[in-house]
Amino acid sequence: MPIAATYDRVARLLHWTVAVLILVQFATGWSWGFFERGTDSRFYLFRLHLFSGYAVLGLVVLRIVWRLTHPAPPLPTGMPRWQHILAHATHGVLYLAILIQPILGAVTTTAFGKGLGIGRIHVALAYGIAALVVVHIGAALWHHFVRRDGLILRMLPARR
Ligand code: HEM
Ligand code: HEM
Repeated sequence: MPIAATYDRVARLLHWTVAVLILVQFATGWSWGFFERGTDSRFYLFRLHLFSGYAVLGLVVLRIVWRLTHPAPPLPTGMPRWQHILAHATHGVLYLAILIQPILGAVTTTAFGKGLGIGRIHVALAYGIAALVVVHIGAALWHHFVRRDGLILRMLPARR
């Protein structure tokens, strides 16, 4: 059963750009530790983490502004109320988490942030975001392969 309404072009572009950058954040954040201090690999992975993290911050602000001014298409009909609530809650918490996470990361790099131990919160939140993303991707796959309601197509490039 195809769904007529889709996310607009900008929403889709922002979703996938941010999704890729979040994966870059996990890949860099969880790999630079394998390299000795002072090595080029460690340095570049860390620089990439900071650069891509700031890009996430800018794009998420843009995304939230876009979302508030361009409503999402309604969820498929026939989904129980608890699933509506769960979907909206997951999306809302994801937006909030990926907005706060780069700010925590940036504060961590300052003496002020180090004094407060903000790094620990940044590390903990990274695990929280990873868990949410797993749930999110699981839900998308469930819609596609079990419920077969065409939901993923709303977020994929438009096809005629
Ligand atoms: C959404 C954006 C971000 C995500 C998902 C993210 C994720 C991560 C992850 C997975 C780690 C490794 C945690 C571990 O050791 O287990 C990490 C560490 C770190 N990140 Fe980020 N990060 C983001 C943005 C940033 C930004 C913008 C900065 C700095 C400008 C930053 C600075 C750091 C620093 C300094 C650490 C080391 C923290 C410590 O071990 O005390 N991060 N981040
Ligand atoms: C392979 C990875 C991913 C897949 C397959 C995927 C799939 C989707 C799909 C199909 C939707 C539309 C849901 C609907 O029609 O109601 C969606 C929405 C959303 N996704 Fe993803 N996603 C992925 C990665 C991510 C990542 C990494 C993030 C951020 C951390 C993210 C954040 C969001 C948010 C916040 C929404 C809600 C959009 C809105 O209604 O404002 N997604 N995703």
